[in-house]
Amino acid sequence: MCKKYGAGFVYSEFINVEGISREIPNSMRMLKTVEEEKPVGIQIFGTNLDSIGKSCRILQDKVNLIDLNLGCPVHKVTCTGAGAALLEKPEKLGEIVRTMVKNSSVPITVKMRRADRENPEEGYAQTIKIAKIIQDSGASALTLHGRTVPQGYTGKADWSYIRAVKEALDIPVFGNGDIRTRQDYLDIIKQTNCDAVLVGRAAMTNPGIFREILEGTLPNKFEMFFEYAKLADKFEVITANSASHSVQKLKVMAQHFTKGIEGAARIREAMNTVHSVEGIMCIMDKAKDGRFVVNNQNTKVVKSFYTEESITNKTEQTVEKEIVCSYV
Ligand SMILES: Cc1cc2nc3c(=O)[nH]c(=O)nc-3n(C[C@H](O)[C@H](O)[C@H](O)COP(=O)(O)O)c2cc1C
Repeated sequence: MCKKYGAGFVYSEFINVEGISREIPNSMRMLKTVEEEKPVGIQIFGTNLDSIGKSCRILQDKVNLIDLNLGCPVHKVTCTGAGAALLEKPEKLGEIVRTMVKNSSVPITVKMRRADRENPEEGYAQTIKIAKIIQDSGASALTLHGRTVPQGYTGKADWSYIRAVKEALDIPVFGNGDIRTRQDYLDIIKQTNCDAVLVGRAAMTNPGIFREILEGTLPNKFEMFFEYAKLADKFEVITANSASHSVQKLKVMAQHFTKGIEGAARIREAMNTVHSVEGIMCIMDKAKDGRFVVNNQNTKVVKSFYTEESITNKTEQTVEKEIVCSYV
């Protein structure tokens, strides 16, 4: 969806090189990409050079870019020396990037956070030092997320570090952190002169952001939701048997996609009364045409109806569909 709405290229979430190199089924499933996503990159993390090399050899035939994660602040990852921990191990980092370049026919890119130093001058110096090691080790481009590791996802991304790295490097530098609107995009380009902009969280809940950034218009939010639901079903992000985590996931996405639209609160309220994919789809289907009206009283009726003994011999889904649709 991000590609369809204008993204120039996309990366996967990070995948452990131990899983890829041993071709563990769950990791191989995470590597799945489709033609429409291309150009697409897979992001890896890890520290073992043999596993990194083997992973790159496996990936080079599947994708257009291989990216190294140098930004993950989660303890489970950093305690193994991977992710953001590599920001403090320049020599090891250089070895890893060189191993990736040697074992890959597709470009290697790296995504890092800015270095954490109390003194800003030292912060800029360390960030640039790491960026130069990445460039000198053969990486084709670098993404900088303008937060430190201790910041996690809090506070503000400091774009001045992106400008400093852009000025210091010859390879393309991509800016990342806090891009939520077209104006943010215009501002980061102006302030940093970066070569591309990577959008994280905003794209996870609104893939239409790329059209907004490029053209200034947003796609219809209901259309995006139905498109998401169809793709999620096709690629088994949600499953047809309405497992509870699927239902929860789809509910959350329905709420994300309808955020800010008129009646969003009522849709959210109605979502609390359904427990199946069918129920969610039914609410969204009615809501898209503005035919959906539910108030507190109706929601209560749904709840009490739902516990009536008379409906126990029907499937949950059938009953929900009947109840929700009867509101229209
Ligand atoms: C739930 C979640 C998962 C993330 N997973 C990854 C990841 O696997 N690889 C990565 O490079 N960044 C990951 N990030 C960080 C984002 O890519 C991005 O760098 C960060 O959120 C800042 O950009 P944003 O303000 O556009 O979100 C993740 C962020 C969140 C919130």
